[in-house]
Amino acid sequence: MTKAGLFLTFEGIDGSGKSSQARMLAEHLRGLGYDVVLTREPGGSAGAEEIRSLVLEGDPDRWSAETEILLFTAARRDHLERTIRPALAEGKVVICDRFADSTRMYQGLSRGDLRGLVDQLHDLMIGREPDMTVLIDMDPETGLSRAKGRQGTEERFEDFGLDLQQQMRAGFLALADEYSDRFRVVDGNRDIDSVAQDVTDIVLQALR
Ligand code: ADP
Ligand code: TYD
Repeated sequence: MTKAGLFLTFEGIDGSGKSSQARMLAEHLRGLGYDVVLTREPGGSAGAEEIRSLVLEGDPDRWSAETEILLFTAARRDHLERTIRPALAEGKVVICDRFADSTRMYQGLSRGDLRGLVDQLHDLMIGREPDMTVLIDMDPETGLSRAKGRQGTEERFEDFGLDLQQQMRAGFLALADEYSDRFRVVDGNRDIDSVAQDVTDIVLQALR
């Protein structure tokens, strides 16, 4: 499996521990000798990082819901072309903090039911799913308080509040059922090392 590359994504609500787990997994796999590319969305390539500022900073109402879907998809297309596909072609393990499932949730659910549009655009412009997606599932109140502890200029979706986080959590769990072949759900309401142990076990099994 390593020869053909492995595309892993982390998903979950804001503050669920995705970035921490993605980083720890990357370090662990590198220690075992795997060639790992750790990346994130929105972003992960020069162009996509520019789009990241457009969607996460400034007035939250600056884009219509539809334009926002286009921007996230444009960022993903650039990331896929410039970073993900070349790395997979070289047999690397690509670990990505969020991917298309986040668009299915945030843009698909938060400003009306736009999931159909998100999926259509995904089929047209992206057409690639991860080999495996680790969903860090957790209680939205804890996630929100962890996320709020961070300082930054990015107007994150966490500003929408607890109701949306609850909707997102349920949505991610439903998505894990919908794509049960590639999703693995990990309980994020535990200390960071216990979560990391589960993640490592799951991923090493896939790499074997
Ligand atoms: P995400 O990328 O999902 O938003 P982060 O990995 O950035 O989450 O974690 C958000 C905050 O919570 C960070 O300050 C991080 O150190 C902390 N954190 C991550 N995982 C845990 C955990 N299992 N228990 C307690 N704190 C955690
Ligand atoms: P991220 O940096 O992963 O935030 P966090 O660490 O708080 O989880 O992502 C920033 C925000 O971007 C997050 O609130 C979710 C949102 N987002 C979307 O709305 N759509 C997308 O397609 C992606 C990838 C992220």
